[in-house]
Order: sequence, then structure tokens, then C-alpha cells
Amino acid sequence: MKEKLDTVSGTDRKMLIGLHLGNGYGSQPGAWRMPWVDPQSYTSFDSRVKQAQAAERGKFQFIFLPDGPGAVITDIASESPAFNLDVMMTLAAVARETSRIGLVATGSTTFNEPFNLARQFKALDVMSHGRVGWNAITSSGDDVAANYGTRIPSSEDRYGRAHEAIQLIQALWGSWGKEAWVHNQETGQFADKDKIRPINLQGKFVGSRGPLYIPPSEQGQPIIFHAGGSPNAHELAGRFANVVIGAAFTIEDARAQRNAFRASAMSYGRDPDEIKYIPGLMTTIAKDRRSALDRRIELGGDLFPHKTSYLQQMLGIQLDPLRMNEPLSKAQLDAARPSRYDPRSVNALKIAKEGWSLRDILAHGVIDYHPVIVGPGEEAADHMQEWFEAGAADGFWISADVNSDGIDAFVDEVIPVLQKRGLFHKDYEGKTLREHLGAPDQYGLDPRV
Ligand SMILES: Cc1cc2nc3c(=O)[nH]c(=O)nc-3n(C[C@H](O)[C@H](O)[C@H](O)COP(=O)(O)O)c2cc1C
Repeated sequence: MKEKLDTVSGTDRKMLIGLHLGNGYGSQPGAWRMPWVDPQSYTSFDSRVKQAQAAERGKFQFIFLPDGPGAVITDIASESPAFNLDVMMTLAAVARETSRIGLVATGSTTFNEPFNLARQFKALDVMSHGRVGWNAITSSGDDVAANYGTRIPSSEDRYGRAHEAIQLIQALWGSWGKEAWVHNQETGQFADKDKIRPINLQGKFVGSRGPLYIPPSEQGQPIIFHAGGSPNAHELAGRFANVVIGAAFTIEDARAQRNAFRASAMSYGRDPDEIKYIPGLMTTIAKDRRSALDRRIELGGDLFPHKTSYLQQMLGIQLDPLRMNEPLSKAQLDAARPSRYDPRSVNALKIAKEGWSLRDILAHGVIDYHPVIVGPGEEAADHMQEWFEAGAADGFWISADVNSDGIDAFVDEVIPVLQKRGLFHKDYEGKTLREHLGAPDQYGLDPRV
């Protein structure tokens, strides 16, 4: 199996695509202010449904709703909070108005009781006919912990609890046996009670008696996702996850992360192809580079003077925010050195050397939190193809700049290019998220781990 580690095996291998659905406006802080956007989308479940339907039209395998339970991480005076009002309620609304797309939400193992998570995610899985994924993460930051009246536990304790919680939750999911529900009106037998059993698990951190009174969904039970990059994250995901939601700025970093997760899966006796590594990509798609840059400037140009001071640190040179319309001088470019502390610096310098003005350098999204494509659909497809074929990604999760038209732009301008190149499926392979991902059958605990 060793030779499987660094593999991009299979000529008919297709990439997976997920859509990031956060606050409903889009990835750019200025999205809520765009004249074509409903400024009340933050509370509109209808707008979330429409956005998910747009992704389903593009045959995306899933939507992903991150959640940092209760933390306000933006400046509420001028920006929307980053997250949904409540991820499970949003997915319940979306489940009723879509039929194929996978529905994935973050649920913290640190700030939830496993029984509650098991119940909510499996109920949603039944409601959606087997389309649910649970992004099992441990949470970070004392600002989140403060909402639960506590401090953030040590990494060891958070991950210790996460390992126990996932096993307990999968045991609860399996506690209602696959064939247990008889519902025979003539004989009067509702269920085979020998097939619905307590689990009686008690660990160091969590416990539950069970059973959980929820029958299997069409995919049995929800799929485990994970997001994170630490050695503890590799360990947890390698043991339990089928998908890792990642973040990487370079092919080299993405490939190293993908291989670390694959190696961890192998150490638990799993086939490394059972775990898919999906880094992020942010997009502003327009007919050409200039129109895309102008859209970015409309979206966030007022923040550029502020961002200039950070760009100075990335390049190690002085920049003048009053000279936004000028390219960097030859002397500046000669003196510039990409910062070792920020992996985005190499790309920022590359863009600067292409001769763009300071404003346009920033409009390329060089300080965003994933790689950014600002340009025509083909450029996004090129980036995705390069990473995919280099063994750096099994797919991507896409953050559109403005959801109300940016998802459609991706579906209309990027998806057909990928399909034409044979890199993305033309239709759903089945009805469940498990089928979309090609994940193996599992009900209850995985006997191998
Ligand atoms: C791409 C990505 C997505 C993440 N999504 C979430 C999220 O939705 N909610 C959350 O609380 N943490 C999220 N995290 C944070 C991680 O779960 C983790 O807490 C963080 O990376 C710190 O790592 P550590 O706890 O292993 O030290 C995400 C991390 C990454 C890399």
C-alpha cells in the first residue's frame, strides 16, 4: 500500500467541488453593500436556499457551512458576522428545497454533548435522504469558549474528547440496527427491539447510554469531515474522516498536507483514497482580468489603504497608500523580499512584478485567506487542474466573492470548462453524499479503527 501514498491514480479520476456558504453574502466583507445584493440576506433562509440551488445546478458535491459557535470575529459596525444564524436550521431549510447536493456543517466536539450532535445530524440525514456530512472540529479560541462560560481546553484535552465523541456518535448512529424498523401495520410490530440496543459507553471525557431512536438514512449515517492542519488534526481525520476541508497557499504545502492525511489514514488500516483533501479557492469571475479587478475594487477598495501597511510587511519595503494608481518602482521591486512568515508573499511579489498598480495588486486578493482567482473562468479551471494533477488536491471548496451572482458565474464559466477537460462529473453519480464522494459503506463504528 506504500506506493498508494503519493498517488494521483486513475485517469478517470474526477475532482470534488464544494461551496462555502457562510453568512449568505459572500467571501468579501463588502459583499453585503453591493447594490444588487439584499442587505438583509443575513437573516434570509430563502436566499440561502437559492444559493444552494445554484450550486446544485452546477453539480457541486456539497455545500459547506462553517461555524464558530457564537464568536463574532468581524467588526460588526461595518461587516456582517461570518457565520449562519444556525447551521442546522439553515441546512434543514435547504434540505427541503434541493434533492441532490450534499449538506455539510461544522459541529464542535468541544462545545456540544455527543448525544445532541448524533441526534441532530442523523435527523437531518434522514430528512435529506442521506446527504449530510458533519465537519467534526474541536474549536479554537477563548472568544468561543467564553460563550460557554469557560476557557478553551488544551489541545490534548480537545482532541482527546473529539476522538471519544466521534466514536460515541457513530456508535449511537449504529444503535438502531439497519433492519430494525419493521412498521408492519397488520402484525402490529413497529420494530425488532433486539436490533435497537443501548451502547453503554463511558470514556474519560464523554459518555452515553443510548440507544438513539433514529433509523438509518439512505446513506446509513452522516459522513465525517474534518478541518484543520495540526498533527492532532492529521491523527483525528486519518482515523475517522472521509473529507478534509483544507487551507493551503501553494501546491507544495497542499501536497504535503494531503499526504500527511493519507499517511495517517493508512496507519489506521484504511485505504488512503478513502480520505479526500479539499483546499479552498476564492473566486471573482468576470469576462476578463480588468473587469474582475474592477469588481474587486468596488467590493473592497475602501479597505486597500489599510491593507497597504500589511503588504509592506509581506514584501519588506515601504509603500505609499497615496500612490494607489502607480505600479511599484524598479527600486522598490529590486529591494522587495517575500516574507518568510507569510506564505502568500511569494505570489504577492509575483503579481507586483507583472507591473500592476498598487490598487490592482491588492485587487488580486493577495491578502485573502485562500488562493484567489480574479479573472475569467478559464483561469480558475487552470488553477484547479494544476493542483489536482499535481496530487495537491482531490477537489476544492469555493468561496464566491458575492454569493448572489458569484455562484452562478462559477457554475456558468468554470464548471463547463472543467467538464470539457474531463476533470469534473457531468451529473450526480447517485442520490446520497456517500455516493457523490465515493465513500465506502459504513454503519455504526468502523470496525478497523
Ligand atoms: C479550512 C479550515 C476550516 C475550518 N473551519 C472551522 C469551522 O468551521 N469552525 C471552527 O470552529 N474551526 C474551524 N477551523 C479551525 C480548526 O478546526 C482548528 O481549530 C484550527 O485549525 C486550530 O487547530 P488545532 O486545534 O488543531 O490546533 C477550520 C480550519 C481550517 C484549516
